Amino acid sequence: MHYQMLGKTDLNVSRFCLGTMTMGWTADKETSFAIMDFALENGINFFDTADIYSFWADNNDGGVSEAWIGDWLVSRQVRDKIIIATKARGRMWDGPDGEGLSRKHLLRAVEDSLKRLQVETIDLYQSHWPDEDTPIEETLRAYEEMITQGKVRYIGCSNHTPTQLRQALTVSTENNLARYESVQPHYNLVHRLEYEREMMGLCRAEGLGVIPYSPLAGGFLTGKYKRTGEIPAQSRGYGNTRMKPYMNDQGYAIIDALDEIGQQHEASIAQIALAWILANPTVTSAIVGANRVSQLAESLKSIDITLSAAEKTRLDGLPSPT
Ligand SMILES: NC(=O)c1ccc[n+]([C@@H]2O[C@H](COP(=O)([O-])OP(=O)(O)OC[C@H]3O[C@@H](n4cnc5c(N)ncnc54)[C@H](OP(=O)(O)O)[C@@H]3O)[C@@H](O)[C@H]2O)c1
Repeated sequence: MHYQMLGKTDLNVSRFCLGTMTMGWTADKETSFAIMDFALENGINFFDTADIYSFWADNNDGGVSEAWIGDWLVSRQVRDKIIIATKARGRMWDGPDGEGLSRKHLLRAVEDSLKRLQVETIDLYQSHWPDEDTPIEETLRAYEEMITQGKVRYIGCSNHTPTQLRQALTVSTENNLARYESVQPHYNLVHRLEYEREMMGLCRAEGLGVIPYSPLAGGFLTGKYKRTGEIPAQSRGYGNTRMKPYMNDQGYAIIDALDEIGQQHEASIAQIALAWILANPTVTSAIVGANRVSQLAESLKSIDITLSAAEKTRLDGLPSPT
């Protein structure tokens, strides 16, 4: 495993971060523990979760991913070995303050997350997505309070536009408040523009850590979603439309190129897709998801793949379908 400092923080994170959205959704507790064990044994020291994970699953009102991480940290006695990132913003209880980035919501949400995670401090607390109904200054003041109280070390944001991020950074500077030190964008070879158009330059200029989510496009960049349109069994994509925007000529041109480059490296399509994202100098750590240990094992092997300049240029030159 390799490690990199997360922006200007003192968090030295592994270049793969374990995404835990599958836990309590498509991975049961035993499998989730096995995935976390494997991650730690293979040098991953950075886990990403969210309070709402994964409320859309049966028998899950949210909070399950955090609770299982908490149980695992306690059972393995490894709190000091893992950098915990979680998020708030989604609906977690009924009533007007049950969701959002208001002070009232955040101060209760952070206590609940700390309890589920069974930790005293969250290393990176992220705004899951923006809240247009709350002034950003109120949100940042609430975070500042948590940092002062030792409940949170650093803050970050996800799914923000460059304008929203710029505004937040300005408000932090003008009011001497903690600033978002990291950005969690949706970024992969079939979804490039949202990050590359403007956000990438902003993150570089501000020295922010960047931790892209869905680096495998939720599984499309493994090559298992075929042109014929049949959806692979045992996959989260089964029966939903998430892969449809990629299942076209542009998406398959990327799969074909990954496949050809993979043959040069004796590597899989997924491994080359991950090597490509880690080759981006603005990316600190890619948040990979897994339903099984074998999936994570395959992903982690990409850590030592170095693409040649020609291979990177070839992939960079392919238009992204979204
Ligand atoms: N901030 C946000 O709004 C946001 C949004 C989404 C995700 N996230 C974070 O990012 C993490 C990762 O997201 P993601 O799950 O979309 O990431 P991903 O790494 O793009 O996709 C992971 C999925 O791809 C499939 N897969 C992985 N390796 C495979 C292999 N070797 N062979 C076949 N299939 C394989 C598995 O799904 P199947 O087995 O079901 O096919 C796996 O769950 C989440 O856990 C969460 O922490 C954040």
